[in-house]
Amino acid sequence: MKITISVIKADIGSIGGHIKPSQKLKDSVRDFIQENGLKKGLVIDSYISSTGDDIAILMTHTRGKSNSEIHKLAWDSFVAGTAVAKSQGLYGAGQDLLKDAFSGNVRGMGPAVAELEIEERPNESFLFFAADKTDPGAYSLPLYLSFADPMHNAGLLLSPGMSKGFKFTIMDVEHVDADRVIELSAPENLYDIAALLRDNQRFVIESIHSKNTGELAVAVSTTRLHNIAGKYTGKDDPVCLVRVQGSFPATGEVLSPYGIGHYVAGFMRGSHTGPLMPVKSNSPISFFDGPPVVSAQAFSMREGVLTEPADAFDQPFWDYVRNMVSQKAIEMRRQGFSGCAMLPYSELEYGGIVEKLKELDKKFIVRR
Ligand code: F6R
Ligand code: MG
Ligand code: MG
Repeated sequence: MKITISVIKADIGSIGGHIKPSQKLKDSVRDFIQENGLKKGLVIDSYISSTGDDIAILMTHTRGKSNSEIHKLAWDSFVAGTAVAKSQGLYGAGQDLLKDAFSGNVRGMGPAVAELEIEERPNESFLFFAADKTDPGAYSLPLYLSFADPMHNAGLLLSPGMSKGFKFTIMDVEHVDADRVIELSAPENLYDIAALLRDNQRFVIESIHSKNTGELAVAVSTTRLHNIAGKYTGKDDPVCLVRVQGSFPATGEVLSPYGIGHYVAGFMRGSHTGPLMPVKSNSPISFFDGPPVVSAQAFSMREGVLTEPADAFDQPFWDYVRNMVSQKAIEMRRQGFSGCAMLPYSELEYGGIVEKLKELDKKFIVRR
Protein backbone atom coordinates (compact mmCIF):
# COMPACT_ATOMS: atom_id res chain seq x y z
CA MET A 1 0.00 0.00 0.00
CA LYS A 2 1.33 3.48 -0.91
CA ILE A 3 1.49 5.63 2.22
CA THR A 4 2.87 9.09 2.86
CA ILE A 5 4.28 10.01 6.25
CA SER A 6 4.29 13.80 6.67
CA VAL A 7 5.81 15.67 9.60
CA ILE A 8 5.15 19.38 9.80
CA LYS A 9 6.45 21.33 12.80
CA ALA A 10 6.50 24.89 14.02
CA ASP A 11 7.18 27.06 17.05
CA ILE A 12 3.89 28.83 17.65
CA GLY A 13 4.48 29.93 21.21
CA SER A 14 5.85 28.64 24.48
CA ILE A 15 5.79 29.10 28.24
CA GLY A 16 8.20 31.41 30.01
CA GLY A 17 10.35 32.19 26.96
CA HIS A 18 11.41 29.52 24.49
CA ILE A 19 11.02 26.58 26.92
CA LYS A 20 8.08 24.40 25.86
CA PRO A 21 4.55 24.83 24.51
CA SER A 22 1.68 24.76 27.01
CA GLN A 23 -0.48 21.67 27.38
CA LYS A 24 -3.50 23.70 26.27
CA LEU A 25 -1.69 24.70 23.08
CA LYS A 26 -0.71 21.12 22.28
CA ASP A 27 -4.25 19.94 23.00
CA SER A 28 -5.68 22.58 20.68
CA VAL A 29 -3.46 21.38 17.80
CA ARG A 30 -4.34 17.74 18.56
CA ASP A 31 -8.07 18.53 18.67
CA PHE A 32 -7.90 20.44 15.40
CA ILE A 33 -6.21 17.53 13.62
CA GLN A 34 -8.71 15.13 15.18
CA GLU A 35 -11.73 17.14 14.01
CA ASN A 36 -10.51 18.25 10.60
CA GLY A 37 -8.10 15.47 9.64
CA LEU A 38 -8.96 12.15 11.23
CA LYS A 39 -12.75 12.50 11.43
CA LYS A 40 -12.94 13.72 7.83
CA GLY A 41 -10.76 10.85 6.60
CA LEU A 42 -8.07 13.19 5.27
CA VAL A 43 -5.40 11.52 7.38
CA ILE A 44 -5.25 7.89 8.49
CA ASP A 45 -3.40 8.53 11.73
CA SER A 46 -1.53 11.29 13.53
CA TYR A 47 0.76 11.93 16.47
CA ILE A 48 1.37 15.31 18.12
CA SER A 49 4.53 15.88 20.18
CA SER A 50 6.81 18.67 21.29
CA THR A 51 10.57 19.03 21.43
CA GLY A 52 11.76 22.17 23.19
CA ASP A 53 9.45 24.98 22.06
CA ASP A 54 8.32 23.26 18.84
CA ILE A 55 5.14 21.31 18.12
CA ALA A 56 5.36 18.55 15.49
CA ILE A 57 2.36 17.02 13.72
CA LEU A 58 3.10 13.59 12.30
CA MET A 59 0.43 12.36 9.86
CA THR A 60 -0.04 9.28 7.71
CA HIS A 61 -2.21 9.47 4.58
CA THR A 62 -2.50 8.43 0.94
CA ARG A 63 -2.36 11.85 -0.73
CA GLY A 64 1.36 11.93 -1.52
CA LYS A 65 4.06 14.50 -0.85
CA SER A 66 3.42 18.27 -0.80
CA ASN A 67 -0.34 17.68 -0.84
CA SER A 68 -2.12 21.01 -0.40
CA GLU A 69 -4.96 19.60 1.73
CA ILE A 70 -2.54 17.94 4.15
CA HIS A 71 -0.34 21.02 4.33
CA LYS A 72 -3.38 23.27 4.80
CA LEU A 73 -4.60 21.04 7.63
CA ALA A 74 -1.28 21.49 9.44
CA TRP A 75 -1.15 25.22 8.69
CA ASP A 76 -4.72 25.78 9.92
CA SER A 77 -4.04 23.80 13.08
CA PHE A 78 -1.03 26.04 13.76
CA VAL A 79 -3.20 29.11 13.15
CA ALA A 80 -5.79 27.73 15.59
CA GLY A 81 -3.00 26.96 18.07
CA THR A 82 -1.63 30.48 17.70
CA ALA A 83 -4.97 31.88 18.86
CA VAL A 84 -4.70 29.73 22.00
CA ALA A 85 -1.05 30.78 22.47
CA LYS A 86 -2.10 34.45 22.26
CA SER A 87 -4.97 33.93 24.68
CA GLN A 88 -2.54 32.46 27.21
CA GLY A 89 0.09 35.16 26.65
CA LEU A 90 2.63 32.58 25.49
CA TYR A 91 5.95 33.89 24.27
CA GLY A 92 6.52 34.03 20.50
CA ALA A 93 2.89 33.20 19.65
CA GLY A 94 2.70 32.32 15.95
CA GLN A 95 6.44 32.91 15.60
CA ASP A 96 7.08 30.46 12.75
CA LEU A 97 4.01 31.36 10.66
CA LEU A 98 5.83 33.81 8.45
CA LYS A 99 3.16 34.38 5.81
CA ASP A 100 -0.34 35.78 6.29
CA ALA A 101 -2.27 33.44 4.03
CA PHE A 102 -1.79 29.78 3.10
CA SER A 103 -0.75 29.31 -0.50
CA GLY A 104 -0.87 25.62 -1.37
CA ASN A 105 2.19 24.32 0.47
CA VAL A 106 3.77 25.15 3.85
CA ARG A 107 7.26 24.97 2.34
CA GLY A 108 8.76 28.44 2.44
CA MET A 109 6.09 29.68 4.86
CA GLY A 110 7.96 28.97 8.11
CA PRO A 111 7.06 25.48 9.34
CA ALA A 112 9.58 22.68 8.76
CA VAL A 113 8.45 19.73 6.62
CA ALA A 114 9.79 16.21 6.08
CA GLU A 115 7.81 13.67 4.04
CA LEU A 116 8.31 10.05 3.02
CA GLU A 117 6.14 8.73 0.19
CA ILE A 118 6.62 4.97 0.33
CA GLU A 119 5.33 1.55 -0.59
CA GLU A 120 4.61 0.39 2.96
CA ARG A 121 6.37 -2.82 4.02
CA PRO A 122 4.26 -5.37 5.94
CA ASN A 123 6.31 -4.54 9.04
CA GLU A 124 7.07 -0.90 8.35
CA SER A 125 9.30 0.60 11.07
CA PHE A 126 10.59 4.15 11.14
CA LEU A 127 12.09 6.79 13.40
CA PHE A 128 10.87 10.34 13.73
CA PHE A 129 13.52 12.81 14.91
CA ALA A 130 12.78 16.36 16.06
CA ALA A 131 15.55 18.79 17.04
CA ASP A 132 15.32 22.18 18.73
CA LYS A 133 17.79 25.09 18.98
CA THR A 134 19.68 23.98 15.90
CA ASP A 135 19.45 23.78 12.11
CA PRO A 136 19.03 21.00 9.48
CA GLY A 137 22.79 20.45 9.20
CA ALA A 138 22.60 18.88 12.68
CA TYR A 139 21.41 15.61 11.09
CA SER A 140 24.17 15.43 8.47
CA LEU A 141 26.90 13.82 10.55
CA PRO A 142 24.64 11.23 12.23
CA LEU A 143 23.04 10.28 8.89
CA TYR A 144 26.41 10.05 7.17
CA LEU A 145 27.70 7.78 9.93
CA SER A 146 24.64 5.53 10.06
CA PHE A 147 24.26 5.15 6.27
CA ALA A 148 27.86 5.21 5.09
CA ASP A 149 30.23 4.26 7.89
CA PRO A 150 30.67 0.65 9.09
CA MET A 151 32.02 2.08 12.37
CA HIS A 152 28.35 2.75 13.22
CA ASN A 153 26.50 0.59 10.71
CA ALA A 154 27.65 -2.99 11.10
CA GLY A 155 25.06 -3.95 8.48
CA LEU A 156 27.21 -2.38 5.76
CA LEU A 157 29.58 -5.29 6.42
CA LEU A 158 27.17 -7.97 7.57
CA SER A 159 23.86 -7.52 5.74
CA PRO A 160 23.42 -8.41 2.04
CA GLY A 161 20.46 -5.98 2.00
CA MET A 162 22.83 -3.00 2.22
CA SER A 163 25.68 -4.39 0.10
CA LYS A 164 25.41 -1.69 -2.58
CA GLY A 165 25.28 1.23 -0.16
CA PHE A 166 23.12 4.35 -0.37
CA LYS A 167 22.52 7.36 -2.58
CA PHE A 168 22.66 10.74 -0.80
CA THR A 169 20.76 13.76 -2.13
CA ILE A 170 22.40 16.88 -0.70
CA MET A 171 20.92 20.37 -0.94
CA ASP A 172 22.73 23.71 -1.15
CA VAL A 173 20.46 25.59 1.30
CA GLU A 174 22.15 28.92 0.57
CA HIS A 175 20.59 28.82 -2.90
CA VAL A 176 17.15 30.30 -2.27
CA ASP A 177 15.53 30.82 -5.73
CA ALA A 178 15.04 27.09 -6.33
CA ASP A 179 16.21 23.74 -4.95
CA ARG A 180 19.87 23.19 -5.86
CA VAL A 181 20.80 19.55 -5.22
CA ILE A 182 23.50 16.98 -5.95
CA GLU A 183 23.22 13.18 -5.87
CA LEU A 184 26.24 11.26 -4.60
CA SER A 185 26.73 7.57 -3.96
CA ALA A 186 28.24 5.91 -0.92
CA PRO A 187 30.70 4.24 -0.75
CA GLU A 188 31.96 5.38 -4.21
CA ASN A 189 31.79 9.14 -3.55
CA LEU A 190 32.42 9.00 0.19
CA TYR A 191 35.04 11.73 0.25
CA ASP A 192 32.91 14.02 -1.93
CA ILE A 193 29.97 13.54 0.43
CA ALA A 194 32.22 14.31 3.41
CA ALA A 195 33.69 17.36 1.67
CA LEU A 196 30.20 18.85 1.31
CA LEU A 197 28.78 17.77 4.68
CA ARG A 198 31.74 19.40 6.42
CA ASP A 199 29.78 22.64 5.94
CA ASN A 200 26.62 22.16 8.05
CA GLN A 201 25.24 25.62 7.26
CA ARG A 202 25.30 25.26 3.49
CA PHE A 203 25.12 21.60 2.42
CA VAL A 204 22.41 19.52 4.03
CA ILE A 205 21.26 15.95 3.44
CA GLU A 206 17.74 16.15 2.00
CA SER A 207 17.09 12.45 1.35
CA ILE A 208 18.78 9.04 1.17
CA HIS A 209 17.83 6.07 -1.05
CA SER A 210 18.84 2.42 -0.85
CA LYS A 211 20.93 1.37 -3.85
CA ASN A 212 19.91 -2.26 -3.34
CA THR A 213 16.18 -1.64 -3.71
CA GLY A 214 15.85 1.98 -4.86
CA GLU A 215 13.60 2.65 -1.85
CA LEU A 216 13.51 5.99 -0.09
CA ALA A 217 15.01 5.73 3.41
CA VAL A 218 15.33 9.28 4.76
CA ALA A 219 13.71 12.71 4.50
CA VAL A 220 15.04 15.82 6.30
CA SER A 221 13.43 19.25 6.50
CA THR A 222 15.73 21.71 4.78
CA THR A 223 14.07 25.04 5.62
CA ARG A 224 16.31 27.96 6.54
CA LEU A 225 14.08 30.49 8.27
CA HIS A 226 16.55 33.32 7.89
CA ASN A 227 16.46 32.82 4.13
CA ILE A 228 12.65 33.12 4.14
CA ALA A 229 12.26 36.03 6.50
CA GLY A 230 15.52 37.87 5.75
CA LYS A 231 15.92 38.32 9.49
CA TYR A 232 16.07 36.27 12.66
CA THR A 233 12.85 34.46 13.48
CA GLY A 234 14.30 31.52 15.42
CA LYS A 235 16.54 28.66 14.40
CA ASP A 236 15.14 26.15 11.93
CA ASP A 237 14.72 23.31 14.42
CA PRO A 238 14.63 20.50 11.84
CA VAL A 239 12.65 17.25 11.67
CA CYS A 240 13.77 14.02 10.05
CA LEU A 241 12.18 10.65 9.15
CA VAL A 242 14.27 7.50 8.84
CA ARG A 243 13.01 4.05 7.77
CA VAL A 244 14.81 1.27 9.60
CA GLN A 245 15.54 -2.50 9.45
CA GLY A 246 15.76 -4.89 6.49
CA SER A 247 17.49 -3.11 3.61
CA PHE A 248 17.89 -0.02 5.80
CA PRO A 249 20.11 0.37 8.87
CA ALA A 250 18.85 -1.18 12.11
CA THR A 251 17.24 1.25 14.57
CA GLY A 252 20.30 1.00 16.82
CA GLU A 253 22.62 1.78 13.91
CA VAL A 254 20.67 4.96 13.19
CA LEU A 255 20.77 5.92 16.88
CA SER A 256 24.45 5.04 17.39
CA PRO A 257 25.96 8.37 16.14
CA TYR A 258 23.82 10.32 18.62
CA GLY A 259 26.10 8.94 21.32
CA ILE A 260 28.73 11.44 20.11
CA GLY A 261 26.89 14.62 21.12
CA HIS A 262 28.54 16.41 18.20
CA TYR A 263 28.74 20.21 18.22
CA VAL A 264 26.10 21.96 16.11
CA ALA A 265 24.98 25.51 15.36
CA GLY A 266 22.18 27.02 17.44
CA PHE A 267 21.90 27.19 21.24
CA MET A 268 21.26 30.66 22.73
CA ARG A 269 19.81 33.12 20.19
CA GLY A 270 20.60 30.64 17.41
CA SER A 271 24.09 32.12 17.38
CA HIS A 272 26.30 29.68 19.26
CA THR A 273 27.93 26.29 19.05
CA GLY A 274 26.67 23.57 21.37
CA PRO A 275 26.62 19.78 21.60
CA LEU A 276 23.47 17.99 20.41
CA MET A 277 21.82 16.25 23.37
CA PRO A 278 19.56 13.23 22.72
CA VAL A 279 16.50 13.80 24.94
CA LYS A 280 13.22 12.12 25.75
CA SER A 281 10.23 13.27 23.74
CA ASN A 282 8.42 16.35 25.08
CA SER A 283 11.59 17.55 26.88
CA PRO A 284 11.89 21.29 27.54
CA ILE A 285 14.81 23.64 26.88
CA SER A 286 16.87 25.06 29.73
CA PHE A 287 20.59 25.83 30.10
CA PHE A 288 21.59 28.85 27.95
CA ASP A 289 18.35 28.34 25.98
CA GLY A 290 19.63 24.91 25.16
CA PRO A 291 21.55 22.84 24.83
CA PRO A 292 20.54 21.92 21.27
CA VAL A 293 18.36 18.82 21.66
CA VAL A 294 17.08 15.97 19.52
CA SER A 295 14.30 13.50 20.32
CA ALA A 296 13.59 10.21 18.54
CA GLN A 297 10.29 8.35 18.45
CA ALA A 298 10.18 4.88 16.92
CA PHE A 299 6.94 3.70 15.27
CA SER A 300 5.57 0.62 13.61
CA MET A 301 2.81 1.08 11.05
CA ARG A 302 0.32 -1.07 9.19
CA GLU A 303 -1.80 0.43 6.39
CA GLY A 304 -0.95 3.85 7.74
CA VAL A 305 -2.14 3.07 11.28
CA LEU A 306 0.56 3.89 13.82
CA THR A 307 1.43 2.08 17.02
CA GLU A 308 2.13 4.17 20.08
CA PRO A 309 5.66 5.60 19.85
CA ALA A 310 8.62 3.96 21.55
CA ASP A 311 10.81 6.75 22.93
CA ALA A 312 14.23 5.78 21.59
CA PHE A 313 16.24 8.06 23.89
CA ASP A 314 14.33 7.02 27.03
CA GLN A 315 16.72 4.29 28.09
CA PRO A 316 19.46 4.33 30.80
CA PHE A 317 22.29 4.35 28.23
CA TRP A 318 21.28 7.85 27.14
CA ASP A 319 21.47 9.22 30.71
CA TYR A 320 25.21 8.64 30.51
CA VAL A 321 25.34 10.35 27.10
CA ARG A 322 23.30 13.28 28.43
CA ASN A 323 25.79 13.74 31.28
CA MET A 324 28.70 13.63 28.84
CA VAL A 325 26.94 16.13 26.56
CA SER A 326 26.27 18.43 29.53
CA GLN A 327 29.97 18.44 30.22
CA LYS A 328 30.72 19.29 26.59
CA ALA A 329 28.16 22.11 26.78
CA ILE A 330 29.72 23.54 29.92
CA GLU A 331 33.22 23.35 28.45
CA MET A 332 32.13 25.28 25.37
CA ARG A 333 30.20 27.82 27.43
CA ARG A 334 33.28 28.54 29.55
CA GLN A 335 34.71 30.49 26.63
CA GLY A 336 31.54 32.58 26.22
CA PHE A 337 31.61 34.67 23.06
CA SER A 338 35.14 33.80 22.03
CA GLY A 339 36.10 32.05 18.80
CA CYS A 340 34.24 28.86 17.97
CA ALA A 341 31.82 29.22 20.92
CA MET A 342 29.88 31.78 18.86
CA LEU A 343 28.96 31.29 15.20
CA PRO A 344 30.78 33.19 12.44
CA TYR A 345 29.46 36.64 11.51
CA SER A 346 27.41 35.38 8.51
CA GLU A 347 25.51 32.96 10.74
CA LEU A 348 24.73 35.27 13.66
CA GLU A 349 20.97 35.36 13.96
CA TYR A 350 20.59 38.80 15.51
CA GLY A 351 21.05 42.00 13.49
CA GLY A 352 22.13 44.08 16.50
CA ILE A 353 25.77 43.16 16.19
CA VAL A 354 25.79 44.25 12.54
CA GLU A 355 24.75 47.78 13.60
CA LYS A 356 27.26 47.74 16.43
CA LEU A 357 30.13 46.77 14.15
CA LYS A 358 29.11 49.44 11.60
CA GLU A 359 29.27 52.10 14.31
CA LEU A 360 32.62 50.84 15.57
CA ASP A 361 33.99 50.75 12.05
CA LYS A 362 33.58 54.54 11.80
CA LYS A 363 35.68 55.01 14.93
CA PHE A 364 38.71 53.08 13.66
CA ILE A 365 41.78 55.16 12.80
CA VAL A 366 44.57 54.10 10.47
CA ARG A 367 48.02 54.88 11.96
CA ARG A 368 50.51 56.22 9.43
C1 F6R B 1 16.90 30.27 20.10
C2 F6R B 1 15.84 30.91 20.84
C3 F6R B 1 16.17 31.71 22.03
C4 F6R B 1 15.93 33.20 21.80
C5 F6R B 1 16.26 34.01 23.07
C6 F6R B 1 15.91 35.47 22.92
O1 F6R B 1 16.37 29.52 19.06
O2 F6R B 1 14.70 30.79 20.47
O3 F6R B 1 17.50 31.48 22.45
O4 F6R B 1 16.71 33.64 20.73
O5 F6R B 1 15.53 33.51 24.16
O6 F6R B 1 14.59 35.56 22.49
P1 F6R B 1 13.91 36.92 22.03
O7 F6R B 1 14.81 37.58 21.02
O8 F6R B 1 12.60 36.48 21.49
O9 F6R B 1 13.78 37.74 23.31
MG1 MG C 1 11.57 29.38 19.58
MG1 MG D 1 12.33 25.89 18.50
